[in-house]
Amino acid sequence: MVFGTRSVARKNNDARVDVSAEPRAQDDGAVRGDPRASELAPSGADTRGLVRVVVHPAAPETGSVSLRLMTAADGAAYGKLLAGNPDSGKVRSSVHFEIDPYAAMAFVHPDSASVVAEAPGQDGLIGSASIRFDHRQWGDAVLPTAMFHSLSVRPDFRRRGVAARMVAWRDARVRERFGDECVAYSVIQKNNVGSERTIRTWSRQYLPDRIVTVPIPLRSSPPARVAGIDVRAAAPPELEEAADGQNRFYRSYALYPRETGPDIEAWCANTPFDAPYRHYVIAADPAGNVLAGLGVIEAYRLRRVVITQVPRLLALANKILHVVPADGVMRELRLNRIWFAPGQRRAARHLLETVRWRWRDRGTSIAFVADRGSPLLELCGLRRWSIRSIAGIALRSPTMLADDQLCYFT
Ligand SMILES: CC(C)(COP(=O)(O)OP(=O)(O)OC[C@H]1O[C@@H](n2cnc3c(N)ncnc32)[C@H](O)[C@@H]1OP(=O)(O)O)[C@@H](O)C(=O)NCCC(=O)NCCS
Repeated sequence: MVFGTRSVARKNNDARVDVSAEPRAQDDGAVRGDPRASELAPSGADTRGLVRVVVHPAAPETGSVSLRLMTAADGAAYGKLLAGNPDSGKVRSSVHFEIDPYAAMAFVHPDSASVVAEAPGQDGLIGSASIRFDHRQWGDAVLPTAMFHSLSVRPDFRRRGVAARMVAWRDARVRERFGDECVAYSVIQKNNVGSERTIRTWSRQYLPDRIVTVPIPLRSSPPARVAGIDVRAAAPPELEEAADGQNRFYRSYALYPRETGPDIEAWCANTPFDAPYRHYVIAADPAGNVLAGLGVIEAYRLRRVVITQVPRLLALANKILHVVPADGVMRELRLNRIWFAPGQRRAARHLLETVRWRWRDRGTSIAFVADRGSPLLELCGLRRWSIRSIAGIALRSPTMLADDQLCYFT
């Protein structure tokens, strides 16, 4: 689906001061009675009170905001910025790093670039935004990809075009590196209106509600044994077979990075700690055939996620499901590369249940991410009432993605 006519209301007291040195073509205030006001409000909303205020008298005096490349010296300031800036989507959560935030990001996304925003007279950073560079599957080809992520502006500097400038910086960086023959994309949590608005300048397609993240609680008792299925860490010789099975499973998924056994081995070996941080676990039959596999990441050792707000219905569901701890601090394990061989869904299910049991003392939950159309979602027993967060994907790619095209996210 190409962009629809999603629109946003501005209320009388909305603030907007453009601190950018670059003129912003859109800053032509919609006022009471202006026909353009309807473009700024949700369809059917009362637009009579709409007005765009150009200068907010209470806004701090900032001078001009400047942008530059993030360096290793920005670690502490970057961590402080993200910790104080919950995502503005339906579920509000912020990231708090357990190690130096720059080192954490460089570890997770070794090929990446981040921009930071600073304002005179202000301590630390007032904004930041990142790009992860990669190569991923697109139809029959493997294309350069750039994922835009971690866009963040300090609350007292919002609605002044700071995010828009950082978004333009990222876009220029991607074009400089890959030209036009690449896929640029970003994942945006449902109802994050501010973030959705920022993608309009660079993306050509928006697929809403595509990515489902399900937090799965860990088990307090072991799963029933399944005869003929052994769950174990994959030994290096088994990884080649696992990589083949994984590549076959995701053959038709967009944005999947094809892998070899040594790629997975290197992924597991790479750790910022003294002990392993990433694991690849398989379900195998007595003959040693690999039936299913997945990657487990001990993400909680790098950062905790603090939930500051959830919709009322989710809060009620959580009283029964206990997925989000009472203090709102989630120490997540993350899964990726989940696959199963044809007809081996049961083996994959047993693999997942075993991981939920073996890692029971580590985190508070397992984050399971999948395309909403993927058969993988059945593995985690998703029900109508299950706690989940939903996100859309914004894209700019050489070819448009079909509405029902499955995507790989992580
Ligand atoms: C989303 C966020 C980065 C926007 O930053 P910002 O500096 O306020 O954004 P800008 O001022 O550059 O605005 C860019 C566009 O979004 C619109 N916008 C920004 N926040 C908005 C909001 N809360 N509601 C409606 N529109 C909004 C602006 O009007 C502007 O639209 P225009 O180009 O049509 O005029 C900021 O709100 C934030 O840090 N949120 C918390 C972290 C987060 O959710 N990050 C996104 C993760 S995907």
